[in-house]
Amino acid sequence: MKNTFGNSIIVTVFGESHGMAVGAVLDGLPAGIGVSMANINEMLHLRHPKDKTATMRQEEDKVSILSGVFNNYTTGTPLTLAIQNKDMHSGDYQYGIARPSHVDYVARKRYGGFEDYRGGGHFSGRVTAALVAVGGILLPVLNNLGIKVGTHILQCGSICDRNFEILPNDLDFLSKRSFPVLEFGVEKKMTEVIMRAADDKDSIGGLVQTGIYGLPAGLGEPWFDGFESMLSHIIFSIGGIKGIEFGLGFAFANKKGSEVNDSFVIKDEKVSTKTNNNGGINGGLTNGMPVVFQCVVKPTASIGKAQETIDFVKNENVIMELKGRHDPAIIRRICPVIDSVTALVVADMLSQRYGADILVKKDLLCNLV
Ligand SMILES: Cc1cc2nc3c(=O)[nH]c(=O)nc-3n(C[C@H](O)[C@H](O)[C@H](O)COP(=O)(O)O)c2cc1C
Repeated sequence: MKNTFGNSIIVTVFGESHGMAVGAVLDGLPAGIGVSMANINEMLHLRHPKDKTATMRQEEDKVSILSGVFNNYTTGTPLTLAIQNKDMHSGDYQYGIARPSHVDYVARKRYGGFEDYRGGGHFSGRVTAALVAVGGILLPVLNNLGIKVGTHILQCGSICDRNFEILPNDLDFLSKRSFPVLEFGVEKKMTEVIMRAADDKDSIGGLVQTGIYGLPAGLGEPWFDGFESMLSHIIFSIGGIKGIEFGLGFAFANKKGSEVNDSFVIKDEKVSTKTNNNGGINGGLTNGMPVVFQCVVKPTASIGKAQETIDFVKNENVIMELKGRHDPAIIRRICPVIDSVTALVVADMLSQRYGADILVKKDLLCNLV
């Protein structure tokens, strides 16, 4: 069983939805990274459920740093952070009834009945709180290096936001927006769609779009640990994500090379491409253009509507009507999670290429971009 990701900056996640705590151990960080509780709390705030568009579970999300930080700076030893669980209703979960499209059945097959099934256990979206706290440490580090990361809701149900245009401006606009969309009026329409699904005891899916600005060209390892591969690996680790595409992605299918090839140009002694259909990556390596990718998020599996399923303890077919508290859409709360794991991949790939000290040496990166 592996709960660890990364090659140079390495994260391990632990905890269960209704256990004592969730948390993360971050290893490989250089000494001297500033760690600000205000930044960590700001990130966690973006992931908080705020109204009826999200779960009614209200967690304080108070982060305790147990190791690896002294006088507000990393020491260079493993950084461990934990977030206590406080608002659990474990009685809402009956062992044996498999929520359709959720992990109850497969977890039973994998762990043979020893799994903590309450609230999805270790598979729960609750564990992403720990990853977002990690993002609260790493995103400011990248910002200091001139690298910006941001995600917005591109589509929720049939309501669409516009695509990224001038990326650094859009990312500045998005930072700290608790409902991350770019166009005026879209938040209200998407909120209505989510509320309608909730009123129907149902859920709704969507698309999110992420941009990374300010990366040097040539980042990534060939073949298996390419930039696309590493991002896709960690993105698919987030529950509820069912697809990822880079740049034009699946829209390449009916195009000709002459229509979509990204022509190189040299301007003011700098190399760029005229278009960015490849989403900033060629052959698994960054090409110096913004990295842009889209992810599809499925409608939340846990819904109140009656559904056919099985009781795998009694071995019989049943109709289930779920009681627990769930997000009618996770599309908003997943955005800071994606930003955080993206920051982790960027930090890991920078460290692999240049050594982890690059994360505290601003000038070095500036000369590379
Ligand atoms: C922030 C966040 C919150 C989530 N909340 C819920 C939830 O309330 N109910 C639910 O059924 N799934 C929720 N999920 C999704 C499940 O974790 C996920 O669907 C499940 O683990 C199965 O994985 P899969 O959908 O990738 O197959 C959430 C995911 C995230 C990232």
